[in-house]
Parts: sequence; C-alpha cells; structure tokens
Amino acid sequence: MKSVVIGSGGREHALAHVLGRDSDVTVTPGNPGIPNSTTQSPLKIDADLFVIGPEDPLVNGLADQLRAQGKTVFGPGADGAQLEGSKAWMKELLVEANVPTAKHGTFTNQDEAIAFLSEMPLPYVIKTDGLAAGKGVLVTESLNEAKSTIKNYLSGDAFGDAGKTVVIEEGLIGNEISILAICDGTKAVPLAPAQDYKRLLNNDEGPNTGGMGAYSPIPSVSEDFVKQIMHEAVQPTLQTLINRGIDYRGVLYAGIMNTASGPKILEYNVRFGDPEAQVVLPRMRSSLFGLLKEAAQGNIEHSPDFIDDVMVTVVCASEGYPEAPQTGKVIQGLDDARNQSGVEEVFCAGVSQNDRGQLITSGGRVMTVTGKGSTHEQARNNAYRSADHITWEGMYKRRDIAKDIN
Ligand code: AMP
Ligand code: GLY
Repeated sequence: MKSVVIGSGGREHALAHVLGRDSDVTVTPGNPGIPNSTTQSPLKIDADLFVIGPEDPLVNGLADQLRAQGKTVFGPGADGAQLEGSKAWMKELLVEANVPTAKHGTFTNQDEAIAFLSEMPLPYVIKTDGLAAGKGVLVTESLNEAKSTIKNYLSGDAFGDAGKTVVIEEGLIGNEISILAICDGTKAVPLAPAQDYKRLLNNDEGPNTGGMGAYSPIPSVSEDFVKQIMHEAVQPTLQTLINRGIDYRGVLYAGIMNTASGPKILEYNVRFGDPEAQVVLPRMRSSLFGLLKEAAQGNIEHSPDFIDDVMVTVVCASEGYPEAPQTGKVIQGLDDARNQSGVEEVFCAGVSQNDRGQLITSGGRVMTVTGKGSTHEQARNNAYRSADHITWEGMYKRRDIAKDIN
C-alpha cells in the first residue's frame, strides 16, 4: 500500500511516521528532515491514499483536483474547507446547525462594526474572515486597540482581502479544549483529546502562537465530555454540511471554550492540529492508514483505538518566533536527541539544508520532540531529555509542557 502526505511541517512528519506503520509513504514537498520527501507534484504521483495536511491547499481545492483524477483523498473539498477558510461562513453554519457558539456579527462597514463591538461583553474579540496564518484573531480588553484593529483589518492594511470582512464575537471565558473528529461524509468518530499550549512563554504568558507543545491523553476530559461535543457540535455540523450538499471527508477539529454555561465552539479547523498530531497519532493502536482510507472512501467501519501510554511533545522554535523568526542557523544534536530512550520521534518542520548538506532552520517552529511514557511525568521527562540535545543559535522552547498533570 502506498500513501502520499501533502505538506511540509511537523504535523505532516507525524502523519508520515504513523502512516508508515502499514504503508509506503511519500511526503510532498516535505523537508530535508522528513524521510521520503519529494518535490514532485501530488497530481503526478500514484498511491492508494492521499492525505492533505495544511489548510491552504484544502481551501484552494487540492482535494477536488485529486478526486477529479480518481484518487482516494483524505481532506475536504474547497466547499467544506470554507469552515476554516471563512469564519463568517463557519459562524453562519453553526447558527443554522444550532451548535452552541459565541454571539457574533459580521461586518464590512467600520461604523457598524464599532457600534456592535461597544455592546459586547469584555474581552473584545475581532477576527479576520479569511485565512491569516493563525494571526487574524485579536482578544483584548482595550476598546482603543479593538477599534484600531477593526480599522486595520477592514482597510486591507493588515491582512489584505482576508481582513476586509471581520467577525466580532462575544468574549468567552473558560478552559480551551480541542476535540478532533474523523469524518467520512456522513459519520464522524473522535480521536483521543490533546491539550495544546498556545502561548509562547511559560505559565501561558506572551503572544499566541501556532502551539508550543502538547500532550495526550488529557486526564480531565472525560469520555462523556467527548460524547457531548460529538452530539452537540460535530454531528449537527456534519448534518448541516450534508443538507448543503457537502460531502465532508476529512478532519473536523473543534476548538472549544468550556464556559460556565457549558462548552461552546470557538472555531473549526479542517485539518489535524499541529503540534496535537505529534502526540495523538503516535498513540493510535488501530491503523491510521486504515481509518483515513475508510474515511476517504466514505465508509468508516472501525472506530480508532488508542494505547494508554502518554505522549508529550515539546516545540523547539527559532528566536523571534512568532513575529520575526531568525532562520538559517545550523541545527546540532538531532541524532543524539533521537537516540535517547523513550523518544517516539523528533518531527521536523521549519528545516532546510545548506550547500554543505547541514540541516538549518528555515521557519518559526523548527522541530517537535515527542516523548512517551506510562505517566505524564515520564513522557515529559523523556521529551525534555531528548529536546535538550538539540541546539542552534537562539533556539527557544517552553519548559512547562505537561508539567504537574496527573
Ligand atoms: P480562533 O483561531 O478562532 O480559535 O481564535 C484563536 C484564539 O483566540 C483561541 O484559541 C482563543 O484563545 C481566542 N478566542 C477566539 N475566540 C474567542 C472568544 N469568542 N472569546 C474568547 N477567546 C477567544
Ligand atoms: N495547534 C493549533 C492548531 O493547529 O491550530
């Protein structure tokens, strides 16, 4: 069996690592730290299964193009990918599906946007409608900052066309949890929950990032909670997609705020989380290849099953991430990191090669190191013992991933 993973980050490395248990995997374009990377276009490769990692190619219709060639593809078409590609479209669908979510308004006019904002409870939440590489969301207590952000978004100065429509939301307070479901067009099955760490600095301080570390399982998230989210959010969303004629075969990643009045959906992503994939996928006991192939074929017959072992992943990032990462630094210690006991894998993301064949940094999040163990503490110690072997000038990692979790 052959599979192709499309993308070049740590999530795609994790997909390839786990799909590789029972298929021959090619990654395109991948990177020099991911085995079997190729620059060949996926449209020119033959395989039994194509898995599209990032949101951009999904929103741009790559799944449709591959399906038009008769290929078996895991990932929604451009129609379903609007759940992530347009927050206004997603919010409207949530309301239609009667899924609990923050109250919102959608605006292209500045005066109307500011009038609506003034009536919302704190904190103020302003989002670009379109994709903004994870940077289009402002959560603030400052009315002035909220107003100037609305101006920057709507004028196109901040994010071009992606910001020319804004979504303003009621600020929600609570714990954030992500539940990822695998969908085959009509049915959905949940994956094991994972906790992401979105802030740059220890103790959840500093700016929001794509994620600085993760662990799975989450002891505080019960099976009943997962069932509730499937029942109140994922299934009604899938049904509403069906009502609109959309055959959604891919990941539905629900970002949830667990508020005092119950869980509410903050957003949907149409892909696996990064770095959540680096802890959830290696915990699969059943076949990832089998699950994604069944979903891609429109018929999930087997629910996924996970080992009890804990996985913890720590992101090694470049100096200046997320605003202005410094790149081109020579990476050292990767082999030593991989040779430590209790390491699942060192997943490579922002990695390229210089003309001397050395691995160098080429992005903000460079590597994620996944450790495993029978407890959170053991997995965390294994992840950090390995990650501490990896160095480059200015390398930064949080030190409190999965700390004090029981
Ligand atoms: P999103 O990309 O929509 O998930 O937003 C990014 C982050 O902003 C989320 O992970 C939350 O931490 C925060 N956020 C988004 N929407 C809200 C909201 N309505 N209330 C409070 N925080 C929010
Ligand atoms: N780690 C959050 C995300 O993938 O969106």
